[in-house]
Amino acid sequence: MATTDDHDHLFPTQTSGLANGGAEPPRHWPIGLLAELTHRCPLGCPYCSNPLTLDRRESELDSPTWTRVFEEAAALGVLQVHLSGGEPGVRRDLVEITAAARSSGLYTNLITSGVGVTASTLERLVAAGLDHVQISIQDSEPDSADKIANYAGAFARKKALAGRLIALKIPLTINCVVHRANIDRITAMVELAVSLGASRVEIAHVQYYGWALRNRDSLMPTADQVPRAIKAVEGLRKRYHGKIVIDAVLPDYYARFPKPCVGGWGRRSLNVTPAGKVLPCHAAEVIPSLEFWRVQDHSLADIWSNSPAFKAFRGLSWMKEPCRNCERRDVDYGGCRCQAFMLTGDAAAADPVCHLSPHHADVVALAARQHDVPYSYRLNPRKADSNAPVG
Ligand code: SF4
Ligand code: FES
Repeated sequence: MATTDDHDHLFPTQTSGLANGGAEPPRHWPIGLLAELTHRCPLGCPYCSNPLTLDRRESELDSPTWTRVFEEAAALGVLQVHLSGGEPGVRRDLVEITAAARSSGLYTNLITSGVGVTASTLERLVAAGLDHVQISIQDSEPDSADKIANYAGAFARKKALAGRLIALKIPLTINCVVHRANIDRITAMVELAVSLGASRVEIAHVQYYGWALRNRDSLMPTADQVPRAIKAVEGLRKRYHGKIVIDAVLPDYYARFPKPCVGGWGRRSLNVTPAGKVLPCHAAEVIPSLEFWRVQDHSLADIWSNSPAFKAFRGLSWMKEPCRNCERRDVDYGGCRCQAFMLTGDAAAADPVCHLSPHHADVVALAARQHDVPYSYRLNPRKADSNAPVG
């Protein structure tokens, strides 16, 4: 479980508030499942979104358990599974797992760093029914990309994998995580995605949870960069209309309203960790008061309807002011619960990214903090038995 010791709480003495125990039953069923097959990864990105404490290889779910999870997910109405990590390519049974997901009737999307999926594995994955692949890129410039990933040669391997995918006619999404070091190259990154044959590019600003919180001051874009980036995206959308889909959102800390994180808590998706815990969102373990159930002990249907973590912030009745009576409460669901907890110490507070939050001025102050200190890289757990930073 992730600890909160390193989180930069502005109000650390407040406790997480579960206003009413989240008593509302589910009115929606999940359509997406994020299957985190492993936390192992060869890269060392300074914004890694995995929890501070990683699940160990010995605790990873085996393929028969994943098979059961996929069958239960499909029965629950899930349409799409994202096979993710860490780097899912490090799992020797990735092909078997992918085949099981496909046999359950799920659309399969492999989310990979591009390092760790060999040409022969890729061919076997395609034969197993793999539907789609998403590759993350760190930058459009090889040296910078490898530096951000803390892995020499990563950029070249990503490009090579993309080429093989297109040759195999597998639809490709390129995911670009942007921050101060690369945000001025959004145009070049989209051009790269087009040249690689991607049908979609996702421009995702770093989310300051987990490891990224340690590097926030090194990653935070400047106030000048953000409007330039927004303008660049507008131009790119016009230029590439009909050729590539460009998904991009404003960076959180510069927004006036929060995003409807995960489409609303316990509303559209669920997340299974490598060791089998089921989370309403990727970062939910940062909220220490939540109780997560495991797939080893409960069916997915039982977890979706009854697990304390899913019930905690489902619906609207847990909300406090200013969300409780806000006209946008059905639009953004009060924003991100994890961010609310990390920045205010209260998981039931309005996401302080919202300009109506009493804590919004603190977010504005944090966005203005930039220091060019070296990244604290996430140590590669395959090379060392520790999660301490190397930077
Ligand atoms: Fe969203 Fe709450 Fe802000 Fe209203 S007050 S916009 S519901 S975060
Ligand atoms: Fe957990 Fe947003 S990341 S609700």
